[in-house]
Amino acid sequence: MSRFWSPVVGTLSPYVPGEQPKLQNLVKLNTNEHPYGPSPKVLDAIRAACDDTLKLYPDPSSDRLREAIATAVGAQPQQVFVGNGSDEVLAHAFLALLKHDRPLRFPDITYSFYPVYCGLYGIEFELMPLTADFRIDVEDYLPARHGQAGAIIFPNPNAPTGRALSAAEVERIVAGNPDTVVVVDEAYVDFGAESVIPLVSRYDNLLVVQTLSKSRSLAGLRVGFAVGSAALIDGLERVKNSFNSYPIDRLASAGAVAALEDTEYFEQTRNAVIETRSRMTAGLESLGFEVLPSAANFVFARHPEKDAATLAAALRERSIIVRHFRHARIDQFLRITVGTEGQCDMLLQALDKILQA
Ligand SMILES: Cc1ncc(COP(=O)(O)O)c(C=O)c1O
Repeated sequence: MSRFWSPVVGTLSPYVPGEQPKLQNLVKLNTNEHPYGPSPKVLDAIRAACDDTLKLYPDPSSDRLREAIATAVGAQPQQVFVGNGSDEVLAHAFLALLKHDRPLRFPDITYSFYPVYCGLYGIEFELMPLTADFRIDVEDYLPARHGQAGAIIFPNPNAPTGRALSAAEVERIVAGNPDTVVVVDEAYVDFGAESVIPLVSRYDNLLVVQTLSKSRSLAGLRVGFAVGSAALIDGLERVKNSFNSYPIDRLASAGAVAALEDTEYFEQTRNAVIETRSRMTAGLESLGFEVLPSAANFVFARHPEKDAATLAAALRERSIIVRHFRHARIDQFLRITVGTEGQCDMLLQALDKILQA
């Protein structure tokens, strides 16, 4: 507390990101980054953009980038909103679209930034418990069971569980709430779930948020986007233009466009992650772990006999970092990002030794 703070600052519970270690040579499986670097075409495009034009502000409406996103996901550029990482897109969505008289509804186990935005913007929320096997129960999001929500948000696949709803299940939620905004956070969708972007033209209450941080290997560039109807995009634009007119800098725009255009590299590297995920899951299961079925670039696993925090600490001693959450219901799980094949081998060998000790 400081006497210089605005009253709201003392009430905030800020998000705590996974560790970004300063040490070299760690096997970093804790923040769901892509194990393979961005496409070489991305690096060339960023280098080419490093010129005298950096003295000029970038395009405030990011037209070129929105066109590239629209082409990549099969939408119209006017249906696309861009931001400095999907965290910023989500932040604007919370203020522009998710703050209503009735509480915002989301799962009890989900992306831990959601309650943080609620704290920042003074949004009331209600938590829907995941089922015993950590699935989102669609019925919880239909008015018949719990009444109408002020708005709805959930990730698909969910984080940190990795479990996904089908597009048909998401559509039931969207169709069942025609007067309520439904935000579907598809940060991990490219690793095995179905995107509902094709539904945006049919449902004016649906906003789909995606990021270039995960499947496009660009967490360091900070580019995220949303696809939705004109009214939803207009609401986001009003907030963005009341906050920062230039969220996408010139280098980020150049790199992001090149990433979206290199579909071959995208397919190749995301398929590599999906293959390693299968091998990692099988390896963990053979060591006695229970692994939730994952449609993301991470797995969520628990060992019936070994304490998760102890396992995470033992891995760290062997220079491997994974994510452990001290939250009710999930404190015996580890969330492990799918790395390269070599990193996967190192993880499995280290766990084998730890479990035998
Ligand atoms: C579910 C979910 N949504 C959004 C994000 C934010 O990603 P970024 O701000 O890098 O686009 C993350 C990051 O881990 C996430 O797990």
